Amino acid sequence: MDEKKIIAVVGATGAQGGGVCRAVLKDVGGGYRVRALTRNAGSGKAKELEKLGAEIVEVDIDDGESLKRAFHGAHGAYCVTFFWEHFSPEKELAEAKNMADAARDAGVRHVIWSTLEDTRQWVPLDDPRMPTLLGKYKVPHFDAKGEANRLFSASGIPTTFLLTSFYWENLIHFGMGPKRGEDGNLYITLPMGDKKLPGIASEDIGKCAYAIFRKGGEFTGRTVGIAGGHPTGGQMAAALTRALGEEIRYNAVSPEVYRGFGFPGAEDLGNMFQFYRDFESVFCGARSLEFSRSLNPAMRSFEEWLAEHGDRIPVETVPGRASGR
Ligand SMILES: NC(=O)c1ccc[n+]([C@@H]2O[C@H](COP(=O)([O-])OP(=O)(O)OC[C@H]3O[C@@H](n4cnc5c(N)ncnc54)[C@H](OP(=O)(O)O)[C@@H]3O)[C@@H](O)[C@H]2O)c1
Repeated sequence: MDEKKIIAVVGATGAQGGGVCRAVLKDVGGGYRVRALTRNAGSGKAKELEKLGAEIVEVDIDDGESLKRAFHGAHGAYCVTFFWEHFSPEKELAEAKNMADAARDAGVRHVIWSTLEDTRQWVPLDDPRMPTLLGKYKVPHFDAKGEANRLFSASGIPTTFLLTSFYWENLIHFGMGPKRGEDGNLYITLPMGDKKLPGIASEDIGKCAYAIFRKGGEFTGRTVGIAGGHPTGGQMAAALTRALGEEIRYNAVSPEVYRGFGFPGAEDLGNMFQFYRDFESVFCGARSLEFSRSLNPAMRSFEEWLAEHGDRIPVETVPGRASGR
């Protein structure tokens, strides 16, 4: 009989969940195995995980019954929601409730809930510094996750509340890479002045999460924050310049300007960056680099991540035209 403890991973084909799966699968003698949850067991990414040794189980986090089946017999569950698929904080809350209820009903022993700050604790809705969005949020994709913490607490399951950070990969996949200005120069644009941005290689989230599962009771009932580095926008631009071999300048716009960029989610992200900027000590303080390295000694700083992945960052050869480099 296989005595290994099962870790069920929501979003297994995605950035966070994929990292959790690979961290567990790599540690062959570690006493854990992976149940990778996906909506489509036949996808290329699911098949890749299967080849690495994961059990593949189909689930939709909007369907509580499918979650209960998927969590059955699992020791641990990595729970995450997918705001950018639907832009609905209410949906995230409902999905978090489905996961918390399913984990409780299935008798899961340790949940890691991938959460973020409910920024309304620092910026109440009547605070005029930033606009209220969707009627009752300041940073919708943060606030709903923070609000959902209580659902996991109320479920009674031993839970670790994992505060993640800005993925360095946002420069590749999320349109945040360098853009060429009218003057022909390359710029990264962040509304953060000279404040620090805690960030992380998304794969490192999984390594930290696996370490937390391994440490078990030490981290249940606790909130832990992780980051691989706390660079300023200026430091990121300098590191990009060194890595890409062309000068990248830092365009420090105001949050108002950023909110007005008009792409889907621009207001939410403008408020998010303003929160990072105005509450730098809170945000960085919750994501100690030393603590993060104690969980994952191979944690990548921005420079280290650039050395591995810088060539995947799309760079515009002329304004508006990104080159595959
Ligand atoms: N970008 C950042 O800097 C950053 C930083 C911190 C936190 N976050 C948060 O990270 C979350 C997203 O996590 P991620 O980046 O790991 O996502 P991701 O890479 O976009 O992956 C999402 C995966 O989840 C699965 N999925 C989507 N909807 C599902 C559903 N209804 N039921 C079951 N599975 C579903 C999809 O897999 P299948 O198609 O195989 O089902 C997909 O591969 C967001 O809520 C975001 O706010 C992002």
